[in-house]
Amino acid sequence: MPPEFDSSIPQIIQFPKIPDERGNLSVIEQCNQVPFEIQRVYWIYDVPGGDMRGAHAYKTLNEVIIAISGSYDVVLHDGTREYRYQLNRSYYGLFVPKMMWRHIENFSTNSLALIVADQPYNQQEYIRDYTEFVQQKKADAASHRI
Ligand code: TYD
Repeated sequence: MPPEFDSSIPQIIQFPKIPDERGNLSVIEQCNQVPFEIQRVYWIYDVPGGDMRGAHAYKTLNEVIIAISGSYDVVLHDGTREYRYQLNRSYYGLFVPKMMWRHIENFSTNSLALIVADQPYNQQEYIRDYTEFVQQKKADAASHRI
């Protein structure tokens, strides 16, 4: 990763794309194309039309979301402003830092969302109540002002 990578804000990461007349190839290596050591990879697929996933935040976990196939929208909220990204290319990933409320919607037919994370699954990491999330963000901001 470039040394100036700011892991406090959401941002698009472009992966290498190796074009070939036999088809393209892209790659992720930990600490190289993604700004952390990869502890977990999971994927979301067969989402029924109109459904959404997520609607929670992680306390300390960072992740990168990739539209390996199809398209969908990732909607993030940091307690103050909303960020919306349409992912539709397999050589782009969206870096989502910890403490971002997030949901994924508008899944196209046969879309496949691949998520690489810097921690194993741990349900204690989740904040599933939006009011609690906003309160925690305010508390974090207040403790940074001291
Ligand atoms: P959840 O993270 O709530 O899904 P989403 O945010 O996409 O709506 O996970 C759904 C279920 O899957 C929940 O019961 C926990 C389980 N799960 C695992 O067992 N391991 C994992 O790595 C993940 C992401 C979820």
